[in-house]
Amino acid sequence: MVEFSRRQALAATAGAAALAAASSASAAAKPAAAATPTPPAIDLAPRERLSLDFGWRFALGHAQDPARDFGFGANQRTYAKAGASAANWWVAGAAQPAFDDSAWAPVTLPHDWGVTLPFVDNPSYAPSGKPDDEDLRAAHGYKPLGREFPDTSVGWYRKTFALPAADAGKRLSIEFDGAFRDALVIVNGYVLGQEDSGYSPFRVDITDITNLGGDNSLVVRVDASLGEGWFYEGAGLYRHVWLVKTAPVHVPRWGVFVRARLDGTLSIDTDLINESDTPAAYEVAQTVLDGQGKPVLTPMAVQGRLPAWERQSLSQTAQLASPVPWSLETPHLYSLVTEIKVGGAVVDRFVTPFGVRSIAFDADKGFLLNGRAVKLKGTCNHQDHAGVGAAIPDALQVWRLEQLKSMGCNAYRAAHNPPTPELLDACDRLGLLVIDETRQMSSDETSLDELERLVRRDRNHPSVILWSIGNEEPQQGTARGAKVARTMKRLVNRLDPTRLVTAAMDSGFGEGITEVIDVIGFNYRHEKMDDFHARFPHIPIIGTESASTVATRGEYARDDAKSYVPAYDTEHPWWATTAEKWWSHAADRPWMGGGFIWTGFDYRGEPTPFNRWPSISSHFGALDTCGFPKDNYFYYRAWWRSEPLLHLLPHWNWEGREGQQVAVWAHSNCDRVELFLNGKSQGVRDVVRNHHVEWSVPYAPGVIEAHGYKGGKLILRERRETAGPAAALRLTADRPRLAADGQDVAILKVEVLDAKGRPVPRADALVSFALAGPGQVIGVGNGNPTSHEPDVASQRKAFNGLCQAIVRTRRGEVGELRVTASAPGLKAASVSLRVEGGRLATV
Ligand code: GAL
Repeated sequence: MVEFSRRQALAATAGAAALAAASSASAAAKPAAAATPTPPAIDLAPRERLSLDFGWRFALGHAQDPARDFGFGANQRTYAKAGASAANWWVAGAAQPAFDDSAWAPVTLPHDWGVTLPFVDNPSYAPSGKPDDEDLRAAHGYKPLGREFPDTSVGWYRKTFALPAADAGKRLSIEFDGAFRDALVIVNGYVLGQEDSGYSPFRVDITDITNLGGDNSLVVRVDASLGEGWFYEGAGLYRHVWLVKTAPVHVPRWGVFVRARLDGTLSIDTDLINESDTPAAYEVAQTVLDGQGKPVLTPMAVQGRLPAWERQSLSQTAQLASPVPWSLETPHLYSLVTEIKVGGAVVDRFVTPFGVRSIAFDADKGFLLNGRAVKLKGTCNHQDHAGVGAAIPDALQVWRLEQLKSMGCNAYRAAHNPPTPELLDACDRLGLLVIDETRQMSSDETSLDELERLVRRDRNHPSVILWSIGNEEPQQGTARGAKVARTMKRLVNRLDPTRLVTAAMDSGFGEGITEVIDVIGFNYRHEKMDDFHARFPHIPIIGTESASTVATRGEYARDDAKSYVPAYDTEHPWWATTAEKWWSHAADRPWMGGGFIWTGFDYRGEPTPFNRWPSISSHFGALDTCGFPKDNYFYYRAWWRSEPLLHLLPHWNWEGREGQQVAVWAHSNCDRVELFLNGKSQGVRDVVRNHHVEWSVPYAPGVIEAHGYKGGKLILRERRETAGPAAALRLTADRPRLAADGQDVAILKVEVLDAKGRPVPRADALVSFALAGPGQVIGVGNGNPTSHEPDVASQRKAFNGLCQAIVRTRRGEVGELRVTASAPGLKAASVSLRVEGGRLATV
C-alpha cells in the first residue's frame, strides 16, 4: 500500500515544467554553539501534529465469524458504497459512527492486545503435520494469535474526535507510525485504506470526509491472524497515531532530505505540494538552528509557483561555519526549519532534525565515524518488553537504549523490521548507530514500497548508518537473489546516496548477493570471516548477528523441566557462539567493523534452546525481558567500556551443596583478580584481554570476594554473600519526576532483601503494587522465561530476587504519585514520584 491520499490526482514532480530551484547561502558569522543532545521543541504553527493516542475503545472481533466481528464480512464487502454513512452497514456495524462502543474497554495507545492474552499451548494445532509445528507456536511466544485463534486475533479500535469549523480549507490526515497488522481504517464510515505491513508507517487523507465543527469517528480493524516473523510481534495499534493539519500548500510527509557533510556543506531537497485548485506563488525559507535553538545560518529563501494539485522538488545547498559534528560522545543535532509563505503569510513550518557527520565502511579499517575508526559494539533487538509487549512507550524506549549504552553498546540493529520512529529519534539524541532494516527482501511492488517508506522516513537520522535489505534470505546465495538485491539497492541509492546497503547472511558467502551489497553482514559463522576477507579483500565485513549465549538470569545450572540455562557464558545454539569467543575474535581484527550480538534484550518467542512449552521467551539477551542485566552484560561492559569493572558470579546461596565444587567466574578488565572464600585466598588469576577468569571453589556459606588489581594496585572489590531468608523489599524508580502527559512512564525495580539488606538471589515472593496519585501500572514482569503470569496486572512474583512494574502517568493530572510494593511476610517499600508539566498536543 502506498499512501491513502489523493496522490493519483497530483501531477508528477519531475518534468521540464517543474521548478528545480537551487540556491546557496553563506554561513552566519557566529561560531556554532556548544553541543547539546536534546534540541529544544520548535513551534510548528501553523502546521499541527496532534496525538491521537487517547480516548480509544477496544474490543476483540473475530477472524472468521462476521456475527462475532461486528458484522464485518457479513455482506461480503470490505468497501462501503461510497457515500452516505447509512451505507456503512455494508462494512460492519462497528464501522458506523453511531455504533455504541460504551461496553468496549477504554485504552490508550500504544496498545498491544497480544500481551493481555493468556499463554496457550495448543498441541492439537499441527496443520502441516510436521514435527516443528510446536516450534512455530513457540516462536511466537505461545500467545493465542494466528489463524487457529480466530476469536483473539482481530481487534477493533474506535475513537471519536472533534474538528473545529476553523479547519475548513486545511488538509487533514491521520498518520499511523505502524500497526500490527493488516489495518483497515474507516473514518466517518468511509473505508479509507488498508495497510498489510505490521511495521511500515502509513497515512490516510481525511480532508474530503471530515465533519468540521463536529465529531468524527475513527475506526480501525486490526487483523493479527497472520504474522510476518518468527518471533513475538504483538497485535494492535502498538505505535503512535497522529492527526496532521496543514495548509493546502505544504511540505508533504518526509518531504525534506538534508545531506550534511562533515565540512558543514548542506544539500537540502525539499518537496512541496499544492493540494488545492488554486495555483500558488510561494516563498520557501530555510533556517538552521543549532542544538540550543540558535540560528546558525542566514535564512535561505527561494520563490516559485506551484500549480494546482502539483508537487515540486527544490534543491538547495548551504554551508555551515564551524559545524559541530554529531558523534557518539556528543550527539549534536541541528534542526532545519522549512517555512513556506504564500501571499506573504507563513502557511507551513516543517522541522527536520539532522546531524553533521561522515560515515564510511572500509575493508581494511572497518567502520569510520567522522574519519575515525569506531568498532561497532552492537546489539540486535526486537521491539518487545516485559509488561507491554510491542507497545513500548517512548520513555521506556529511551530507558532500554540507556541500559544498552550502560553496557558499552554503541550500535543497534532493528531486527528484522522498520523500528518505531521514536526509537531512531532516541538513538540520534543518545549517540547510537543504527542498522535500519526492511522487513522483506523482495523486489515486488509492495516490498519496494515498504523499503521506500523506510528510507524516506529515516534518511535524515544521523544515527542510521546502514540500510539492511534482508536477513538470512533463502535466495542470498543465488543469481536470482542477486537480481532482487540489485533492484532493492537501486531504489535505496536513488533515495539516499549517502549510506551503504548491507544484508545479514548466514550462507552463500561469496555468491549471490555478495557482490551486490556494499557491506557483508555475517550472521554468526565468524570463523568464516578470515577466509572471506582473504578472498574478497575489497568488501567490508561486519557481524550482523553474533555471539548469542543462551542464559537465564540468576540461574547457574541447566534445568530442562523449568527450561532454564546457566548464566555462565557457556551455552549457545550450534550456529552461534559465546560472548567471549565472538568478542575476542572481533576485537582482534581491525579490518572488521565489529558487530551486533544476538540479542541485547530477551524477547518473547523463540525460546531457544527449548522451543517447547512451557518456555515462552528467548534466552539470548545480555539483559532479560525487563532489562535486568544477566552476567554477560558485565562481560560486555568490561570490554566495551574503558572504566575498571569487576563482576563476580554466581550468587553464594548454595544450601545443600556444602563442600561441592562451584564454578566462580569474574568478568573484569583489571590486570589480575584474586578470589577469597571467607577470607581465604582461592588463587590469583591474570586476566587475558577479552576473557573471563574462573576458579573452582568448594561451597561453604559466607562470602566470596574478588579483588581486582591494576598496575599492581588494588582498585576494586566485589563480593557475593550468602543471604538469609527474604525479609524486605526495596523499590526504586528510574527517575523521580515524570511528565503529566499520559504517556510518560517510570520503570520500577523491586529487589527482595534479607534482614541485613542483602539481595536474596532465589527469592520468588509475590509482589503487589499499590498506587496513590496520578498514575497506573500498565505492565509487570520479572524476566522469567518460563513464567505464564499475566503481564497486565498489579502483581508479579519476583524471579531470582527481582521484578518490575511500569507505571504511566495520566494526562493532565499532576501531583505526588506514591507507589508501594508489598509481599506477604516482607517489609513493604514505597517510592514517591513527582508528576508535573509535560503537555502533549492531543485531540
Ligand atoms: C537467526 C535469525 C534471528 C534469530 C536467531 C536465533 O538465524 O536471523 O532472527 O532467529 O537466528 O538464533
